[in-house]
Amino acid sequence: MRILFKNIKALVQVRPTDVKYVAGQEMDLLPQIAHAFLLIDDGIIKEFGKMEVCPGVEVDETVDASGKMILPSWCDSHTHLVYAGNRETEFVDKINGLSYQDIASKGGGILNSAKTLQETTEEDLYAQSKTRLEEIIALGTGAVEIKSGYGLTTDAEIKMLRVIKRLKQEYNIPIKATFLGAHAVPNAFKNNQKEYVQLVIDDMLPKIAKENLADFIDVFCEKGYFSVEETATIIKAGKKYGIQSKIHVNQFTSIGGVQVGVQHKALSVDHLEVLSPKDITALKDSTTMPVALPGCSFFLGIPYTPGRAIIDAGLPLALATDYNPGSAPSGNMNFVVSAACIKMKLTPEEAINAATINGAYAMGLESEVGSISIGKKANLFLTKPLNSIYALPYHFGTNAIEQVYLNGKKI
Ligand code: NIG
Ligand code: FE
Repeated sequence: MRILFKNIKALVQVRPTDVKYVAGQEMDLLPQIAHAFLLIDDGIIKEFGKMEVCPGVEVDETVDASGKMILPSWCDSHTHLVYAGNRETEFVDKINGLSYQDIASKGGGILNSAKTLQETTEEDLYAQSKTRLEEIIALGTGAVEIKSGYGLTTDAEIKMLRVIKRLKQEYNIPIKATFLGAHAVPNAFKNNQKEYVQLVIDDMLPKIAKENLADFIDVFCEKGYFSVEETATIIKAGKKYGIQSKIHVNQFTSIGGVQVGVQHKALSVDHLEVLSPKDITALKDSTTMPVALPGCSFFLGIPYTPGRAIIDAGLPLALATDYNPGSAPSGNMNFVVSAACIKMKLTPEEAINAATINGAYAMGLESEVGSISIGKKANLFLTKPLNSIYALPYHFGTNAIEQVYLNGKKI
């Protein structure tokens, strides 16, 4: 199946195939071809360039993209979109003045979601989750990472990861699965956190590795959750099974999570709402991608990750939704890109780089998606007619996407 897009107003994020990510000042450059063509063959980006050199090949479909732009799909490198039920009543508690920690200490929060998930069948969990996956695909996401972490028992964690596996099989979108057994300490282990960490390492991890259910391992490294030492122990245990880490750090406090991530070559350190100059220094000369989650800051009313300082220090930055029932109940990357511009003062170019190529890197998919490059998957979207690329983040909350393509197929 061959599709030829003609007269594209701007073909955005055009890069050589081997670019892994962009950092520092480079992030403000978003390579584009004006008045372009794009040829897709068999789900893969085959050729592109200026209209003047558009090849006269035989195709199955020609799309006139006059006035419209084409971008690579959003790459959402941090979600918890497999969950059961919702936390709408906690949302109202929060409006009435309770903090994230207040809610957690009265039995709400992650443990509340875990209780609901434990009582939900795998079939039902799959049905609830696939609706969310379909929703984000329609919003332009073309690669996604999904975490476990609302199970908190061996069986329930495996149930979540099997649901992710089924989503991988049923949907034509790259999905990476992350094991987050160390998301919160269940009540049964309240007075014996050490034993829970042992359960994660000695019982959950071997079974998950045996079934090949996890691409990555994660820990919520935070005061009141898991310490830096526990995080290191869990990351090292993952490494023994060849599973790389991507970790939750610095959401509320800077306790050394960034350093432990960098030291153990975590693929990404995510959240970073509270970031010290030392944390920024630790990220320099590392292979670890810092990931900001502005939807979480927006929803919880906590500080935004200092993305400006991160980029100005010469570092890369990725953006993701954190789609989850407690701190970011939205998987809309378009909103995330807007919020990054409006609240974190990223330029639209920086935000789009952070939400595409850098997001792809943060889940190990940079050779498949994240840019318009020869040989990459034709996971992309055609916009409605746009004045300029700036219109995307500027009109926050509107949907500027006209048509989504995954592997060159209309969705
Ligand atoms: O990334 N901070 C830890 N985990 C999730 C929130 C989980 C929840 O509240 O259900 C996050 O924000
Ligand atoms: Fe998260």
